[in-house]
Amino acid sequence: MNNFHHVPVLVDAVLENALPENARVFADCTFGLGGHTRAVLERYPQLTTVVAIDRDHLILDHSSKIFDDQRIQRVQAKASELPQALQELGIAAVDGILLDLGVSSYQLEAPERGFSFSRPGPLDMRMDSSQSTTAQDIVNNYSRDELVKIFRDYGEEKFSGRIADAIIRARQAGLINRTDQLAEIIARAVPAASRRESHIHPATRVFQAIRIAVNKELDELEEFLAIALACLNPGGHLSIISFHSLEDRLVKNFMQSLARGCDCPPRFPVCVCGKKPQVEILTRKAVFAEESETQVNPRARSARLRSCRKCDLSMEQKP
Ligand SMILES: C[S@@+](CC[C@H](N)C(=O)[O-])C[C@H]1O[C@@H](n2cnc3c(N)ncnc32)[C@H](O)[C@@H]1O
Repeated sequence: MNNFHHVPVLVDAVLENALPENARVFADCTFGLGGHTRAVLERYPQLTTVVAIDRDHLILDHSSKIFDDQRIQRVQAKASELPQALQELGIAAVDGILLDLGVSSYQLEAPERGFSFSRPGPLDMRMDSSQSTTAQDIVNNYSRDELVKIFRDYGEEKFSGRIADAIIRARQAGLINRTDQLAEIIARAVPAASRRESHIHPATRVFQAIRIAVNKELDELEEFLAIALACLNPGGHLSIISFHSLEDRLVKNFMQSLARGCDCPPRFPVCVCGKKPQVEILTRKAVFAEESETQVNPRARSARLRSCRKCDLSMEQKP
């Protein structure tokens, strides 16, 4: 494994929003190398427990060698499996949950994980290596239409059709099983003028798209959102850093609909549904990194944070 580090993004905004002042238990559901947790433990020294979840057991193992603290309980799981993780640890609910989506530089920089177009390696891209579907399976077996849809929806790639065609042609000649091989196929499919004008490698968006598909990242986020509120104590905070507009839209809609409460049609003069707001939004707009941060950590450029606080509905129901 490698020695690459991961610089956590939006740390100040996370510290401001991740927990209420009296917090005791925190769940970092995308623990990685624990950069955010380290900062959270310094800012909230009264924390008694951090539930440190990651889908990737390799990164969890490595993190325990470089950062440990008796309060950290590492669990290999998906974020959406937080309820089961809490149950196994005997924890009823937590005071703060953080999700920092995507992959860590540590994973990206390891050639054998196959996440990076600039590091020759097997076409893998699984965060959890026990999962069966790899990037190689998708690239070699998906139909043209399926590839186009993934590249367009998850990568916002404007040359999706040309790239899918090039992949279909190349795979007729043999298996595509290396990151550098795929990067080359993509680069050759993109018009030269566009390659010259773009400030990013032509394979950037397609690699991101394939990674999202391999790890079913959007389905997983939806599953996580469905369970998140029930895992929080009243007054607890939920914070999510996303890097993709589709992820951010899911998070924004989720928080806004819970903050609205009432879902009666606007034409109704009074509320008949009786639904109360379940959260209060803490970040009126998504929080983006300052230029000073993006200059030293370009990954922060597309990061955005949204946070909300779970309302204490039991208080409201008292006469
Ligand atoms: C951007 S990194 C997090 C970095 C971390 N905040 C830090 O400061 O070191 C994302 C991490 O979350 C993991 N991950 C991504 N999505 C996940 C999910 N749905 N459930 C569990 N882990 C996930 C990845 O394996 C990766 O280690």
